[in-house]
Amino acid sequence: MNSQREESWGTRIGLILAMAGNAVGLGNFLRYPVKAVENGGGAFLIPYLVCFLLLGIPLLWMEWAMGRLGGRSGKHSPPLILQTLGKYKFWKYFGVFGIFTNIGVAAYYCYIEAWTLSYAFHSLFQTFHNKTQAQIQNFFSEYLSIFSNQGGFYAEALVMYLVCIALNTWVLSRGLNKGIEKVAKIAMPLLLAFGTLLALRGYTLGKAGSCPDCNAMLGINYLWEPQLGKLTDPKVWLEAAGQIFFTLAVGMGTIHCYAAYLKPKDDIALNAMAAGWMNIFVEIILGTAIVVPIAAGYLGLDWVRENISFSIAFQTMPYLFNQWGAVIATLSGFMWFGLLFFAGITSSLAMGMPWLSFMEDEYNWSRQKAAFSFGFLVLLMGLPTVLFFEKGVFDEYDYWAGTVSLVIFALGETLLFAWFLGVEKGWQELQEGADIHVPRFYKYIFRYITPSILIVVFLASLFTPKANNWESFLQGNWELDEKSIIGKLFHKSIVANRSYYSAYPEAEIEGIISKVNVQGKNVTIIISRSHNSNVARADSLKIQKVYHFENVRRVLVKEGA
Ligand code: PHE
Repeated sequence: MNSQREESWGTRIGLILAMAGNAVGLGNFLRYPVKAVENGGGAFLIPYLVCFLLLGIPLLWMEWAMGRLGGRSGKHSPPLILQTLGKYKFWKYFGVFGIFTNIGVAAYYCYIEAWTLSYAFHSLFQTFHNKTQAQIQNFFSEYLSIFSNQGGFYAEALVMYLVCIALNTWVLSRGLNKGIEKVAKIAMPLLLAFGTLLALRGYTLGKAGSCPDCNAMLGINYLWEPQLGKLTDPKVWLEAAGQIFFTLAVGMGTIHCYAAYLKPKDDIALNAMAAGWMNIFVEIILGTAIVVPIAAGYLGLDWVRENISFSIAFQTMPYLFNQWGAVIATLSGFMWFGLLFFAGITSSLAMGMPWLSFMEDEYNWSRQKAAFSFGFLVLLMGLPTVLFFEKGVFDEYDYWAGTVSLVIFALGETLLFAWFLGVEKGWQELQEGADIHVPRFYKYIFRYITPSILIVVFLASLFTPKANNWESFLQGNWELDEKSIIGKLFHKSIVANRSYYSAYPEAEIEGIISKVNVQGKNVTIIISRSHNSNVARADSLKIQKVYHFENVRRVLVKEGA
């Protein structure tokens, strides 16, 4: 028998901090502010909280319950836990989502984690001291271009990425108590302390720059002022649901794994709430009080609205910290990037557990071997995001592993819990050892509301209308957005690379080539178009454009093309 079957959490606080650490991540500080600003600031808050109550909390309870239930039969990873619950083999294969997603997300997540580690050191060693805003921005692009040593040292981003993966592997190899639990007990309190200090600064900064809308309070106000008018926009709701998934780390399989190491009589109802609410607190109280207000204080709310993206945490924050003098800038920079690193590592460790426990349960691998292989897989999958970051590989991973998979997995597990296993059995498991009374209406929510919302979210992601314009979609304009799942599958976003062809002449009208006349090295090309653009026949051609080229080596176009 594998020794990990007897493994369990050391203390209740250790468990809650580890679960909260899983949830509290880069998403809380970097993703939430961006999503909120992109969706109208305070307009985002109500959909977000509603999604938390109707999707987030039920999924948390279900996942904790499924995990502990699986743990009872010595199963600790999503495929095996789901199979134990669902009886059919199908669920085992379905559970593989819970491994794949985690390795996919870890691959790009560890890369940002690496940036935060680099930047924490650079803050400490005062690399950004006396640098202008443009220089700090430039530092970031140099850093990302990998094989240039202008940023810090040679290939720093790549080296730090390797360091991060090694660190994750090492902690995971030390086992649950000496690894994950210990890191959570150190990292989470520090994160809360650093976050609180920076948030206090955000709240007290007030007017710092010279522009008319330079005021930190305007930033805070923008994120908090509810806008009821936006409640009817499906896009805001979809984005809110997506953020709830990502931030709570539901639909991933990590919660199942952690919960599988609970003892059979441990509480889950209250613990799940403690960890879940801690995450929401960090996200909407601390996460809204740092980047947006500090940037709004110096550069203005308009600037924030135009420039918001998760990279301003790296490109702009060090410059803003510089305004507080060398000592405080050093401390603030270290606290900011340090807290991001802690947020990141406590999440990426969780992403390792589905793979680790699967290899241990199913193949009797040792913890060390499993941890090492996880590191190797992440590296293998992650290198493309590091080397081709600017080519969009990163976004592609985030889309498939960090967004779509979560919804599919959550939908499947909800149906399993509420319908296949049966809500009564699930409910009984949730009640076992519970330290709080779970409101009975949640049974109804598990059974009908959560699955219905998930189906709607899934369908809406499958068929997202062009530019997310639902109004025109409902009026019959059914063109899909390039970011809809279908659009992605059909590569709608891949269009001719204009800059690649920029050295070639380009016709000013669209049409067919009606004549190619080659005389030695001189070429004449006539492009014609009919007034009725559907009829591209020579006899109805009306508009013509004639091009003459000299010194042509090879003609690539043909008549009729
Ligand atoms: N919840 C984490 C965040 O907010 C991300 C995460 C995703 C963690 C998946 C674990 C698993 O950044």
